Amino acid sequence: MHAISVVRASILELCALDHNGDGPTLARWLGNKTIETFAVWLRDPNNYVVVGVLEGDVKGVGLIEKSGDLRLCYVHPDHQRRGLGRAIVDELEKQATRWGLCEIRLTSSANAKTFYERHGYVSAGQPIHEFGVLWDYPYRKQLTETNERWPRRITLEEALRQGPPPPGNQAIPIFRHGSLEVEMYAPIRTDHQKPHERDEVYVVARGTALFFNGREQREVLPGSFIFVPAKQQHRFESMSPDFAVWVLFYGPSGGET
Ligand SMILES: CC(C)(COP(=O)(O)OP(=O)(O)OC[C@H]1O[C@@H](n2cnc3c(N)ncnc32)[C@H](O)[C@@H]1OP(=O)(O)O)[C@@H](O)C(=O)NCCC(=O)NCCS
Repeated sequence: MHAISVVRASILELCALDHNGDGPTLARWLGNKTIETFAVWLRDPNNYVVVGVLEGDVKGVGLIEKSGDLRLCYVHPDHQRRGLGRAIVDELEKQATRWGLCEIRLTSSANAKTFYERHGYVSAGQPIHEFGVLWDYPYRKQLTETNERWPRRITLEEALRQGPPPPGNQAIPIFRHGSLEVEMYAPIRTDHQKPHERDEVYVVARGTALFFNGREQREVLPGSFIFVPAKQQHRFESMSPDFAVWVLFYGPSGGET
């Protein structure tokens, strides 16, 4: 059976509580569950895809992104409760650990909430209206606790190897804890970033650049510390080819006073 047929059957039958048979919701949900789209997901180096095989045939599918977002975990309706879902999530978590991630995030269907809760995922906020009649339930799991990886350490080279940044990001996500988000940023030639919603700290890891704070430029060197309050315009200019900087976002949207 093709992996995408498993996903489609699983959505249609097992997620009935979520789509409630609503035609427009199903059309949108199934719209990108095609062989062509699946081939694109498979080729994307930021994705790790796993299939669960029973009796010699694909009966389950999972996908996690390097960013730590678990995007797919689907088991065929005829093969539920045989441990396939658990095996898929276990393998995706192992890959996340190999990538050096500390946390996995996902949005669960209503159907799968108990499944994820049994696997140590905890609610990460209010349900989000996705489209049609569909609601997503945010969950997260700290891998560090299960993997006893505190204190968390990573070298500059290891951080850079986790790139390139996932689609939609300019920097490589490295670590999250509470409100803290750590990224590795190595812009090539031009820094296209826009002001951010949260307070931000930079520590230059490698190379040199000029830092422009909206009014003036200052030289920054390895070890330079820069604080940028939320919403402040800024960018790096005249970067050396090896320029790389640690980025730390923290606190609420709008920044702290
Ligand atoms: C959620 C899903 C992946 C679970 O797959 P599965 O192979 O049936 O799960 P497992 O057999 O590995 O279950 C492991 C444990 O999770 C829990 N669990 C699994 N499905 C459950 C359910 N529907 N309700 C309550 N607990 C459930 C149980 O504790 C189970 O252990 P047990 O069978 O010994 O009691 C599967 O039901 C599915 O594909 N659902 C539809 C797609 C979906 O919603 N995916 C999530 C998208 S984000």
